[in-house]
Amino acid sequence: LSLASLADFPIGAAVPADPWPNSLMQSPQRQALMEQHFDSLTAENAMKMAYLQPAPGEFEFSHADALVSYAKANDMIVHGHALVWHTQTAKWMDEHPGPAHEITQIMDNHVRTVAGHYAGKITSWDVVNEAFTDDNPSEYRETLWYNNIGPGYIERAFRLAHQAAPQADLYYNDYDISGMIGPAKLDRVLEMIDDFLARGVPIHGLGFQMHIDTEKPSLEDIRESFAKAVARGIKVRISELDIAVNQSEQYQHLTPEVAQLQRQRYRDVARVYLETVPAKLRGGITLWGLTDSDSWIPGFKERADWPLLFDADFQPKPALEGFAQGLRGS
Ligand code: G3I
Repeated sequence: LSLASLADFPIGAAVPADPWPNSLMQSPQRQALMEQHFDSLTAENAMKMAYLQPAPGEFEFSHADALVSYAKANDMIVHGHALVWHTQTAKWMDEHPGPAHEITQIMDNHVRTVAGHYAGKITSWDVVNEAFTDDNPSEYRETLWYNNIGPGYIERAFRLAHQAAPQADLYYNDYDISGMIGPAKLDRVLEMIDDFLARGVPIHGLGFQMHIDTEKPSLEDIRESFAKAVARGIKVRISELDIAVNQSEQYQHLTPEVAQLQRQRYRDVARVYLETVPAKLRGGITLWGLTDSDSWIPGFKERADWPLLFDADFQPKPALEGFAQGLRGS
């Protein structure tokens, strides 16, 4: 079984780079899984601002470059994550006193340098990540970038990225826009995208992170959310897929019953993607990690969970077969 061979669009995974302890570069088991199943690779952390520009104007590309070389050597494309985000910015950026025009310069320089460094090597970018709030999606999230540059920072980042990497597909990326919390946040994102398209701001797609669980959102909500993006003629990626099973913390381990629920859920998500997004708009599906022990969820949510396709021993879970069934359309 090879997931990538079942799909006519990229199937990817987010992976750690050096110097993280579970780095792909140090792990023959993870490399074996990547090479068997995936034709797209995303750095889970290594291409974020803090790591690429640890000191003002000093860029450190070596760890991210190693992932890009690995991908090239193994016929995988690379999706870049993320040029502008409010989390995992460098400490010196957060502490920069301003004035606003210097913060603008910092963002401009970062986007130009990073997108330029990887021009021709990275197929697509998350240009801006998570710019809207959850509780009041009509509001932009108040971040270092928004507070200093104003709402125009998003458009600015897309224009700069396009200048520096004219061949790359440029995505806006966000979470809880596939129905998890109602349609308001997605509608706000699409309002921005409509405006960009109308004014010729270079944007090519929308990334639905989809950190979801076995219950929410409903398949109908997912379908409807994808359809709204498709109606704009933009590409749709599932950019950070994982399916949590232990939100209420009732399990100490993954039971066979829950593993089957998860299997079905992976199948359904893949199927809805295939049914709703026409071939030419499929930007691909990326899993947010390889093994359950790599997942961000236990650390972040402080609970056990088993959200991915492989277990801590690199063995396939029923979820893998479910996802494969979905990709086959069966
Ligand atoms: O690098 C430090 C290390 O020096 C320190 O000893 C250690 C102690 O906690 O922390 C390390 O930093 C961690 C970093 O990952 C690198 O491993 C942070 O604590 C940890 O919070 C951070 O988590 C990442 C998270 O983004 C940050 O918000 C996750 O690995 C990563 O999977 C997650 O990914 C995000 C996407 O970028 C955007 N969408 C949501 C998704 C899940 O949260």
